[in-house]
Amino acid sequence: MNIIAICGSPRRGNTEFALKKLLTKAGELGHKTELILLREKKVEHCRGCLSCDDTGKCPILDDMNSITEKMVANDLIVFGSPNYFNNVSGLMKDFFDRLNPAYGNKKLDGKKAVVLFVGDEVRNIDKALVVVESLTNSLGISIIGDLYLNAKDAQGLENDPESVKKIDDFVVSILS
Ligand SMILES: Cc1cc2nc3c(=O)[nH]c(=O)nc-3n(C[C@H](O)[C@H](O)[C@H](O)COP(=O)(O)O)c2cc1C
Repeated sequence: MNIIAICGSPRRGNTEFALKKLLTKAGELGHKTELILLREKKVEHCRGCLSCDDTGKCPILDDMNSITEKMVANDLIVFGSPNYFNNVSGLMKDFFDRLNPAYGNKKLDGKKAVVLFVGDEVRNIDKALVVVESLTNSLGISIIGDLYLNAKDAQGLENDPESVKKIDDFVVSILS
């Protein structure tokens, strides 16, 4: 299977670490993987013109088009974000809004996705997940698994063997 992970953290922290770990484990299981760090990409805010409803395309020429094409080319999409006020990060939300062309052109219809959140508390996990479900339901993507990890400082997960094991076990459970 081809797996692409999208990282919505603005820092080199827990979400990035968790996604790398997840992809490494998937690679060990024989899958082909790629990681997209949104903080390194140019993804402008959606301008709300809604021309994509008619054309299936976004008039903004930045990295969004190539990221979308990569998502189309992969079988499984992993959405990874820090929990920001029981929502995705702003970086991730901008990315989600820019996926609106796929609502009309159905390019991502039938794809499978996995959701990974990192937060410093374990309350309100469901609220954060609802945000992602609102996107995936609209685009015809089905969520086949979700993982919520607990950490605050940037190296929090890296220094927590229990969380690292959780990631490996999660990968095995969704890919077997
Ligand atoms: C603006 C902001 C809002 C946050 N809101 C929450 C929250 O509502 N719930 C929570 O559990 N953690 C919250 N956090 C903590 C982060 O989710 C946590 O530090 C996480 O490890 C960050 O992931 P990263 O290292 O990948 O950036 C917030 C952090 C920031 C910067």
